[in-house]
Amino acid sequence: MRIDVSEVIAKSGLARKIFGGLSPSYDSVLDRMTLYQDGTWKRRMLEKLPLEEGATMLDVGCGTCVLEERFPLKGSQVIGIDITSEMIRLAQRKRLSQVSSLGLADAEHLPFVEASFDLVLSCYVPKYCDTRHFVKELVRVLKPGGHLAVYDFTRPQGPFSPLLNYFEMGFMPALGKLAAPLDASVSFTFGALPGLIKTTTWCEEFGNALDEDGLSEVGREALTGGVVTLFWATKR
Ligand SMILES: C[S@@+](CC[C@H](N)C(=O)[O-])C[C@H]1O[C@@H](n2cnc3c(N)ncnc32)[C@H](O)[C@@H]1O
Repeated sequence: MRIDVSEVIAKSGLARKIFGGLSPSYDSVLDRMTLYQDGTWKRRMLEKLPLEEGATMLDVGCGTCVLEERFPLKGSQVIGIDITSEMIRLAQRKRLSQVSSLGLADAEHLPFVEASFDLVLSCYVPKYCDTRHFVKELVRVLKPGGHLAVYDFTRPQGPFSPLLNYFEMGFMPALGKLAAPLDASVSFTFGALPGLIKTTTWCEEFGNALDEDGLSEVGREALTGGVVTLFWATKR
């Protein structure tokens, strides 16, 4: 299978193309691609959210529900949405008790009324979205006093940035080439991601968008030298 990235114009189209093919091996690819750091990043994100019995939580771009499978969410009831049907199907097969509903939807057009959720979170989705539309939608469906947390890949900064940049821009594509004869979807993902991470401006825009939408207690943290950046905030 050969895929030309330039054919794919819309970012959501690119996401569907990546995750439609990758879905069966997604959970293990996630671990390897993040050098087993994803669990640390998810744990840090959850520390920023006051999880409480009975809280309603929306996971935007839930994928195969790795988060809900690997972390106890203290009685929160989760609704997951994703734009890729293959990912949702795999999440459904896991039959996770804390996931009450899963559906196909676009993060930029969430099918929920205003103020539906106590908590909204999202991992690895911003780079596929228009930042302003994405943030507006997350904030719209959040209840007043509710909390959100989001992280995604960014370009590393600081003393270890040459090494970490090599991981994102050199190691990932090299792995993609190695995987090509075995799995075209894995190869495509490892090939396409570095370009996306290099060009995305989500991180520069995200904090401003949260401020413009009137959120308070906005926080931001670079994790693993800035390989990913985590944002959290509260709706007034
Ligand atoms: C790298 S996966 C992350 C899945 C999950 N959040 C996790 O942490 O394992 C990114 C997911 O975002 C989804 N996605 C990308 N763009 C989206 C959009 N506009 N709306 C909803 N989901 C989207 C993809 O289909 C994919 O399942």
